[in-house]
Amino acid sequence: MRILGIESSCDETAAAVVEDGERVLSSVVASQLATHGKYGGVVPELASREHLRAIVPTVRLAMEQAGSGWSDLAAIAVTEGPGLVGSLLVGITYAKSLCFAQGIPLIGVNHIEGHIHAVVMEARRAGSPVELPALALVVSGGHTHLFEVSEEFRYRLLGKTRDDAAGEAFDKVAKLLGFGYPGGPVIDRLARFGNPRAVRFTLARMKGNALDFSFSGIKTAALRWTQARDMSAEMARRRELLESGSQLDDEQWLAVTPRETLDMLASFQATVIEELLRRAVRSAEEIGARSVIVSGGVACNSGLRAAAQAVRLGIPVRFPSPGLSTDNAAMIAAAAFPKYERGEFADFTLKAQANLRLA
Ligand code: KG4
Ligand code: ZN
Repeated sequence: MRILGIESSCDETAAAVVEDGERVLSSVVASQLATHGKYGGVVPELASREHLRAIVPTVRLAMEQAGSGWSDLAAIAVTEGPGLVGSLLVGITYAKSLCFAQGIPLIGVNHIEGHIHAVVMEARRAGSPVELPALALVVSGGHTHLFEVSEEFRYRLLGKTRDDAAGEAFDKVAKLLGFGYPGGPVIDRLARFGNPRAVRFTLARMKGNALDFSFSGIKTAALRWTQARDMSAEMARRRELLESGSQLDDEQWLAVTPRETLDMLASFQATVIEELLRRAVRSAEEIGARSVIVSGGVACNSGLRAAAQAVRLGIPVRFPSPGLSTDNAAMIAAAAFPKYERGEFADFTLKAQANLRLA
């Protein structure tokens, strides 16, 4: 049974065909990095325009690579939210028109549920399905959420960020220090060259729900750190490097980044990881989780992966392979399988919902 997934919630136009909820027959991601990079973040108007350009060829390529015709599809799944309304609308409108023209059922998927199903799908494929109840930590540029995932993929929200998402903190700190956008991958690469204990950040103490997150304090501390020293020379050198427009390797970054700044990056990353894992461990224990799922763009972070594996929780901690951690459409198709089985179809009134909640 094949489902075509379509994802356009942020700055990636993606389409994928998944078979039986576990085999990725194709997964095409058209990135808009080149468009938004120079603005230091996603520009919503430009994102919608780029989605419009990319949606038809992206879907066509995914169908071709999967060797699929329309009649092979059991359903078309599309991200209905959360995300940028103008971006979501492109995917939703296109999915609806395909369903209408070809007589295929439509399924609406929550983007966050998609991130969780990236892990569920790979675990099934590997022959070791995710043990439920699971604790899911979804960490990306837009989300930092903890969910309890129980039988039949029912969700309960346990905690979430009260301000920035973890990925957003990576992006803002990188921008502040002149490392360009997105910041997560560069900080990840450079953090391993610094001392994670060199700069002290205070951990966030939450009033009310202790499982909520806050990253605004760390961000402000990073700002103060830069204000306390003259960084103009190294910032100028990094700007020059970024403007060269080439693919940058570690050596090139290291040549324009003094030890003190490497220490700062390492300390920042270590603090974010500690904040994430502390709450994930605590909530996994609270709900008696049988496994932990970590997904979303920040799940690519090598420091987070290493630290999560080092925590002795006594239950499996599962990450998606890096290509399925960041935004993609295979995860959207995968999340649609349990809905297909339950007969949860959408009609043509399906709307884009910027703030759609999973629970
Ligand atoms: O899941 P995603 O592609 O899009 C959203 O749904 O937001 O996540 C993108 C986010 C960005 O903030 C990016 O900086 C972060 O994930 N990211 C990373 C890494 N790779 C991507 N953060 C830390 N370390 C990484 N290796
Ligand atoms: Zn995402």
